[in-house]
Amino acid sequence: MKDDFKFLANYYDKLIHTQSNFMWSEVIDRVESDILLDVGGGTGRIIKQLSHRFKSSINCDLSLPMLKIAKSKGHLDGICCSSEYLPFESNSKKIVIMVDTLHRLVEPKKTLLEILRVLTKDGVFIIEEPNIEKWQIKIISLIEKLFHMQSKFYNYAEIIEMINIPGIEITPIYLGNNFSLVINYS
Ligand SMILES: C[S@@+](CC[C@H](N)C(=O)[O-])C[C@H]1O[C@@H](n2cnc3c(N)ncnc32)[C@H](O)[C@@H]1O
Repeated sequence: MKDDFKFLANYYDKLIHTQSNFMWSEVIDRVESDILLDVGGGTGRIIKQLSHRFKSSINCDLSLPMLKIAKSKGHLDGICCSSEYLPFESNSKKIVIMVDTLHRLVEPKKTLLEILRVLTKDGVFIIEEPNIEKWQIKIISLIEKLFHMQSKFYNYAEIIEMINIPGIEITPIYLGNNFSLVINYS
């Protein structure tokens, strides 16, 4: 699989602005769990921000250079794997996040269903993505295409369509140029 982040890894944290609070912070605070699973966690940018909240955080990412940066920051629980095949038992993780990653996936639907396999029935899965309805994101999408990066941004309806299975509740949150989906079993 192509690793778009091989050369970006060293600069990633400097290029991407990290908010001090996430639009879904209150949602995960309502779920009792000491463990966080971050799918496509990259340099551990989000894990670092949430380190006060969890005893341990697992970062599953296919880019070894990104995981190495995370490790250099002290995030030792990194697993180099593809999000389509997570090395966890079914029904075993209570809080799963996937930030800024869905649009990078070659097989987004497969990943979403894989995360739902791993998610506990009382757990929560958060997706945060750039909002492709905004012109700023349309420009980013164009630039990424020019650089031949693997990316396809999805809107809310397209993501819902991918998670087309019964017994799932999906609540959107919109903020600025991003949006999040709070996903759980109903
Ligand atoms: C834009 S970065 C986001 C990193 C992190 N979530 C953040 O917000 O800082 C996207 C990440 O997804 C990872 N990624 C892309 N495709 C993947 C896949 N199929 N399985 C696991 N990770 C993947 C990349 O290696 C990269 O680290």
